[in-house]
Amino acid sequence: MKMQTEFYDIGVIGLGVMGKNLALNIADNHYRVSAFDLDALKVTGLIKQAQKEVEPNRPLGVKGCDNVSEMLAELEKPRIVVLSVPAGGPVDGVCQALIEAGIEQDDIVIDTGNSLWTDTVAREEKYRHQFTFFSCAVSGGEVGARFGPSLMPSGDEKAWLRIQPIWEAIAAKVDGKTGLPIERTEPGQTVTEGEACTSYIGPAGSGHYVKMVHNGIEYADMQLICEAYHLLSQGLGLTAIEISAIFERWNQGSLNSYLMEISADILKQADPVTSRPLVELILDKAGQKGTGLWTAVSSLQIGCPAPTIAEAVYARALSTQKSQRVTLSTLLSGPNTDKKGLIDHTKPDVFIEQLENALYCAKVSSYAQGFQLMAMMGKEQEWQLDFAQIAKIWRAGCIIRATFLQSITQAYQDANGSELEVLLMADTFSSALSEKQNDWRQAVSQAVLNGIPAPCISSALAYYDSYRSAIVPANLLQAQRDFFGAHTFERVDAPTGEKYHLNWSSTDRKLHKVN
Ligand code: 6PG
Repeated sequence: MKMQTEFYDIGVIGLGVMGKNLALNIADNHYRVSAFDLDALKVTGLIKQAQKEVEPNRPLGVKGCDNVSEMLAELEKPRIVVLSVPAGGPVDGVCQALIEAGIEQDDIVIDTGNSLWTDTVAREEKYRHQFTFFSCAVSGGEVGARFGPSLMPSGDEKAWLRIQPIWEAIAAKVDGKTGLPIERTEPGQTVTEGEACTSYIGPAGSGHYVKMVHNGIEYADMQLICEAYHLLSQGLGLTAIEISAIFERWNQGSLNSYLMEISADILKQADPVTSRPLVELILDKAGQKGTGLWTAVSSLQIGCPAPTIAEAVYARALSTQKSQRVTLSTLLSGPNTDKKGLIDHTKPDVFIEQLENALYCAKVSSYAQGFQLMAMMGKEQEWQLDFAQIAKIWRAGCIIRATFLQSITQAYQDANGSELEVLLMADTFSSALSEKQNDWRQAVSQAVLNGIPAPCISSALAYYDSYRSAIVPANLLQAQRDFFGAHTFERVDAPTGEKYHLNWSSTDRKLHKVN
């Protein structure tokens, strides 16, 4: 019989970059980890790294195991097991292996992958009688996992109480007063002060839904920056280095974000082979794993517009049609501008400032779309989402971290949580958008006049303009539907819900009230 102290606190299955780094992060924070991967080399890789980075401070912090049963046997009961395996079939594969290895009813299994939220809901139900299936979406990439990710846990609340101390220890931290991240970049370091970027999101599936929307916003954020880069290079003829300097400057202001920071960095990078800017040698075909697409599909299914997120997914899809684009670039004509285009090259700073403001406005618009989507789904699923809290845990650790999230946090706090129906209603954003919208319109106009595609910057503006329109042309649309399909319409001068049909094809064109 083992002494109690010999048991490990938490198991990790799946030692790819994310799983390995989460294991090391957990060990840094004084929890003992027992780990397993089907690939034995990954297990030995983890142990070697742990010996170098963790064990000088915390001996025997990490143990590698040969199989799931051995890993389970090493854990203190009731057990906590973290899964870091690809979304989909592999999650169920490991759950089955855990069942066969004797996982027990009181044990908790946490799925940290980018799983589809409906799969998570189904799994919680499916495994309910064998163990507690819990989910925790993780954002922050490999560095985040190692030194402090943003964690979006959801599922059984009692399970959360057991996980919470570990999660709060390993999560990214934010200075509560300034809202700025507290950096941790060294192995072995821990950060105990500050607000942890993790918070219980809600019932099963809600955390993965919130993470999915995070990724949708991430797609939009990335594409917005790419469009700004394209407008500055194609429209103003600036070099990658010049654009990098502009992004660095923007990163000092309201556009400050991790994605802006890395974009400035990327644009400075020379290709080791040719010495040209590396970005110009990277093929313009974007990949995607699906979470942006899921967000766009969910927005369509639930009827909550997220056009900027959807455009970002389309932009990636269109980028992959490289050969068609190359052919069409010689067949279809663009606007008749001189070589330098229509943007005033004698005063580049004017356009650069307009673009900076346009980017800020488009960013607000796309975040508003994401939060609106979470609000609508949250209501439908009765999740009771706390948006101030969600914005708070995105302030550090995750890919969309930005100082701007402090303003979103504040906006929801000021509005007492759910009362803020649409983010654009918050004073701080409605006034900023009113002030900057003319620059936004100028930037979109310049993109259109110069034939430079900017689908996200412009769809974000269309969203803004649609939302601020008390009247939209859906009256004509309803008439069209009634004309060809007798789909009926409501009248502005009659009670809501009262339906009418006009007999459009008959000579008398009689109006009927439909029961
Ligand atoms: C994160 C990222 C992470 C992953 C994306 C990449 O929050 O850490 O979003 O989850 O990098 O899934 O997605 P694509 O391959 O679809 O761009």
